[in-house]
Amino acid sequence: MPVGLCAERVVVVTGAGRGLGRAHALAFAAEGARVVVNDLGVGLDGTAAGADSPAAQVVAEIEAAGGAAVAHGGDIATSEGAASLVRTALETYGRLDTLVNNAGFLRDRMLVNLDEDDWDAVMRVHLKGHFLPLKHAAAWWRAEAKAGRPVAARVINTSSGAGLLGSVGQGNYSAAKAGILGLTAVAAAEMGRYGVQVNAIAPAARTRMTEETFAATMAAPGEGAFDEMAPENVSPLVVWLGSTASEGVTGRVFEVEAGKVTVMEGWRRGPSADKGARWAPGEVGEVALKLLASAEVPGAVYGAG
Ligand SMILES: NC(=O)c1ccc[n+]([C@@H]2O[C@H](COP(=O)([O-])OP(=O)(O)OC[C@H]3O[C@@H](n4cnc5c(N)ncnc54)[C@H](O)[C@@H]3O)[C@@H](O)[C@H]2O)c1
Repeated sequence: MPVGLCAERVVVVTGAGRGLGRAHALAFAAEGARVVVNDLGVGLDGTAAGADSPAAQVVAEIEAAGGAAVAHGGDIATSEGAASLVRTALETYGRLDTLVNNAGFLRDRMLVNLDEDDWDAVMRVHLKGHFLPLKHAAAWWRAEAKAGRPVAARVINTSSGAGLLGSVGQGNYSAAKAGILGLTAVAAAEMGRYGVQVNAIAPAARTRMTEETFAATMAAPGEGAFDEMAPENVSPLVVWLGSTASEGVTGRVFEVEAGKVTVMEGWRRGPSADKGARWAPGEVGEVALKLLASAEVPGAVYGAG
């Protein structure tokens, strides 16, 4: 009989063959969950990367530790891949409780040099790659709820500091990750009635995605010191959000790295003026400048200045 925070739960993690997704999958399994480990096994820029199956390797690791897992090698940004991902959970374990949307890749360029293909590929894998698994999982949860069976489902989406504040050289990625925040808010509002909670994280960790670009901040410490940038530091919050223990928490965004967890307080109305009639452009400009003078200055875009 599995024991732990997620005993009896079935958890799907996309892009779980490496990096953060792998750490989440192992952490869920350690808390008793049965895990569907999805990974297409692509390179850092999303192009094909040979025949290795990182998902199968993570399944082997989970099984070696006494846990239960199954590999899924489909592309989560296609309808067929997302549908077969949910089907794998249902056919293998008979249920689905938690979906962690995590898969993705980068195609970094300054906007003037950003090709349409690189825009499309990054929007597709992150934004559509969140929407499609969410949609297919939600259809099953709604059917369960309508059949009168209790649902305590959880979705954890993966945004980024780039989505929260923007990041120079990552216009496509920042737009996709900001889109995931909007998707999270709407999904939480729409799906609460079916017993589904939806939250997002903005993580930071040393993975193949970050170890070169941010080499200085991501470096591993000397022996015995706390390895702040280990991806395993992000997973405990994801496991808690994915468990029934997080009951009542939905539509929220958490920044998480090292030993630090921060609730992000997002867009909220600041100083405002209402004339009760249409402004003239010059007039509204003066008012806008006055409002800006008393408004909070936005956080700096990563890499700016
Ligand atoms: N590492 C960080 O500091 C950091 C910071 C902010 C956000 N993120 C986000 O965290 C998530 C995980 O990133 P990571 O750093 O672990 O990167 P990673 O490259 O180590 O892992 C991503 C995995 O996703 C898989 N993948 C890519 N496209 C896929 C698809 N279409 N279908 C299935 N699998 C696919 C890849 O094969 C890879 O194994 C990403 O969404 C990333 O944008 C990471």
